[in-house]
Amino acid sequence: GLERTLIIVKPDAVQRGLIGEVLARLERRGLKLVALKMMWMSESLAEAHYAEHREKEFFSDLVRFITSGPVVVGVVEGPNAIEVTRTMMGETNPATSPPGSIRGDLALTISQNVIHGSSSPEAAQREVALFFRPEEILSYERAI
Ligand code: CMP
Repeated sequence: GLERTLIIVKPDAVQRGLIGEVLARLERRGLKLVALKMMWMSESLAEAHYAEHREKEFFSDLVRFITSGPVVVGVVEGPNAIEVTRTMMGETNPATSPPGSIRGDLALTISQNVIHGSSSPEAAQREVALFFRPEEILSYERAI
């Protein structure tokens, strides 16, 4: 059905001037951006966003990286938006992401992998609410 998912254009992609490239791919696929903002994530927001990874050995590196520069955060909406976005992103590790995917075309390392997308409907609901107030998510018609 119709879903919403959170995407983050990570600091590596912003630094490399790839914001438009990443958003354009999602838009061309037919996904609709219903919320969008640029921000510099605080440590507490990063820790809340990545709470499920708190016990991982890479957690502190992950928080340091995602707070190292500005990000672009958005909500994309469409049929099966969560799975479609994850398929377009490729694997977490860019090394095993096929060419044609966002990471397979634009990234090389697991930490600097250009984009985050919610991993499940539960994660999407939690992450969208963490970054956006309800009134920041807009309802409008768009042609595919
Ligand atoms: P993301 O989808 O943002 O969610 C968790 C992130 O942890 C993941 O993308 C990777 O960029 C990052 N990460 C860093 N190191 C590792 C690792 N060793 N294994 C998995 N994810 C990692």
